[in-house]
Amino acid sequence: MRIFSGIKPTGDSTLGNYSGGFRQYAATQEQGDATFCIVDLHAITVEYDPADLRERTLDLFAMLIATGLDPDRTTVFAQSHVTAHAEASWLLSAVAGYGQLGRMTQFKEKGREQEHVASALFNYPVLMAGDILLYQTDIVPIGDDQRQHLELTRDIAERFNGRYGEVFTVPEGVYPEVGARIMSLQDPSAKMGKTGSSDQGTVRMLDSPEAILKKFKTAVTDSGREVRRADDKPGISNLIDIMSVATGSTPAAVESEYVDAGYGAFKLAVGEAVVALLEPIRLRYTELRTDEGELLRLLAGGADRARATSAPTLERMYEAMGFARL
Ligand code: TYM
Repeated sequence: MRIFSGIKPTGDSTLGNYSGGFRQYAATQEQGDATFCIVDLHAITVEYDPADLRERTLDLFAMLIATGLDPDRTTVFAQSHVTAHAEASWLLSAVAGYGQLGRMTQFKEKGREQEHVASALFNYPVLMAGDILLYQTDIVPIGDDQRQHLELTRDIAERFNGRYGEVFTVPEGVYPEVGARIMSLQDPSAKMGKTGSSDQGTVRMLDSPEAILKKFKTAVTDSGREVRRADDKPGISNLIDIMSVATGSTPAAVESEYVDAGYGAFKLAVGEAVVALLEPIRLRYTELRTDEGELLRLLAGGADRARATSAPTLERMYEAMGFARL
């Protein structure tokens, strides 16, 4: 089974990324032939600081290793190191529909936040489709916010196969049963995100234990006092999910343990569980991040492997589309 996922080197990784991303990557790496991509080409689709991009890329690479990816066994690489991604994106833009791309929620939401909306933001999902399809991917571990992009990828693959002949495996998205959409601690109607959402509502994976405890202490809760999941209790439901992600217990087990504890005590317990989860990761990250030479060496190895794996599919795309190949 071939597994592929990608993550953007923008902002600091959050508990949301851990839940929908990192922890799934480490788990699926055991299930087959896994490839994980630091999508630096996607990072330039919104305003960003060129002075930061290199650092962010190495930060994220160190975080991927700190959360359990083994770069000797699993291919981990930066998108811009493998030029097939930019090429595939152009070829697939002949298949993706203009109307379809305009309907993407992320394009509409991120577009609203930008003063200047780059055409790269519009084309973002085509680049993402190429990432996935170049590796003949069977499954894509992601969070719920990437569902629409994954459906578009499937549609592009089917349309390409129908128009030019069978080249691509049509991939399936894999979403965590609990924690596919972690919400802001300050606004449970908004996704916890790297950028955009309030700092106090966003738990960053490199936050100090004190900062994490404070964020949970001040988390917004709902009316009532029973720790129980319910539609009219989005704040508490989110905290129950976070507790489940941090400890590995089911939400039902979390409820039965804390139902009578009261919101204050529960918030403290969730904060402590998240500190216990993230502290060892932060320590490993800090150690790995100091050896930049080693990180670059490992990235180069990942790029070599990713080039070798993606090249045959890119070649088949060109051939199927009728290009004169040499
Ligand atoms: P990115 O970098 O925004 O997020 C990386 C992963 O984290 C998940 N995630 C969340 N999961 C649960 N709750 C949250 N609050 C939360 N916030 C983020 C995301 O769903 C994602 O799985 N477009 C992608 C990057 C990408 C990609 C790909 C992914 C580019 N090419 C190919 C898969 C396959 C993105 O922006 O992820």
